[in-house]
Amino acid sequence: MDRADQLAGHRDRFILPEGVLYLDGNSLGPLTKAAQARVAEAVNAEWADGLIRSWNTAGWIDLPARIAAKIAPLIGVDAADVAVGDSTSINLFKVLSAALDKAGEERNVILSEPGNFPTDLYIAQGVGALRGAELRLVDDVEAALADDTAVVMVTQVDYRTGAKHDMAALTEKVHAAGAIMAWDLAHSAGAFPVDLAGADADFAIGCGYKYLNGGPGAPAFLWAAPRHQTVMPALRGWFGHAAPFAFETQFRPAEGVKRFITGTAPVLSMTALEAALSAFDGVDLAAIAKKSAALCDLMIELVAARCPSLTLASPRDAAVRGSQVSFRHEGGYAIMQALIARGVIGDFRAPDILRFGMTPLYTRFADVFDAVEILAEILDTGAWDTPEFHRRAAVT
Ligand SMILES: Cc1ncc(COP(=O)(O)O)c(C=O)c1O
Repeated sequence: MDRADQLAGHRDRFILPEGVLYLDGNSLGPLTKAAQARVAEAVNAEWADGLIRSWNTAGWIDLPARIAAKIAPLIGVDAADVAVGDSTSINLFKVLSAALDKAGEERNVILSEPGNFPTDLYIAQGVGALRGAELRLVDDVEAALADDTAVVMVTQVDYRTGAKHDMAALTEKVHAAGAIMAWDLAHSAGAFPVDLAGADADFAIGCGYKYLNGGPGAPAFLWAAPRHQTVMPALRGWFGHAAPFAFETQFRPAEGVKRFITGTAPVLSMTALEAALSAFDGVDLAAIAKKSAALCDLMIELVAARCPSLTLASPRDAAVRGSQVSFRHEGGYAIMQALIARGVIGDFRAPDILRFGMTPLYTRFADVFDAVEILAEILDTGAWDTPEFHRRAAVT
């Protein structure tokens, strides 16, 4: 295992509280120094003094395009094909609607996995109900491809186990079956190199607040291959209009991917996301992936040696794993609360998953050693099994 840390210097770009081992950047990335400074400036100068003039003078109007330019290299596409805004859920609605339009009437099945993230399934159910399409859930989407498949909607990295799909291979199979491939990159973008264009995918969506560190509820992104940028969007907002400030009565889509943008950009959130993305400046994504694999391998080895009551839920092979490690234990929720009380922050995913995200820009090998040491102590002493730690909070 190669533990030479070429990324060690990048930790300085983040604000991480003293006494906390943060292994949850796959859920909410930490604050960057750049975002902290830029949001203060946007509030105190651009909003307070500039007022509405700042749409032009501070370049607020160009925020989505500037952010698109920073996300594009992380997912292997042209900036001109990325739309930034709304949530991942809403962007998925747009993508599935567009995919059903492109697929034509004979194909009316949205194919996905039962373990896909619930919001993806719920949005697909909603689109299906509106469009007379069926959401079909199968463990093996490849095997289930059929003449009625309109679109395959898969999250590349499973949010519970961290198991990772081969993007190029699955996209090729889906195309061979005459269907459209839509990827949810919530747990991919910023975690390892993604090559959507190389895989010839059709659509993708992803979150701004996980590995991209854009802040709680940060705007999401949508990518559409150029060949799909002529569809009429299902959600038609004035910022997706060809001439928003002409205030026309009839919707006319903007050229290209811009048509998928809906309403006014959330300027403060976008300011935070734009600044946070500078944490990736000069960073080689291959180096991130290499260190992530080493961090995950280390955690798996240490837990196997020190915590025999935990069962590995993630793939052992880094080639088919995202940037997280998960373990099963029936007391998973209480164990995670006990860990958090000791300053080790991961999260819990029902029914029994303890999840630890590895974020190589700031996670150190020493953090993994220390976290497993505390985990082993909590398990050995049974310190987790108290009423306090079993009490469920609204967010797990
Ligand atoms: C795979 C996946 N998709 C989507 C989301 C969230 O979507 P939204 O940002 O709309 O809440 C998550 C959140 O964890 C996720 O894991």
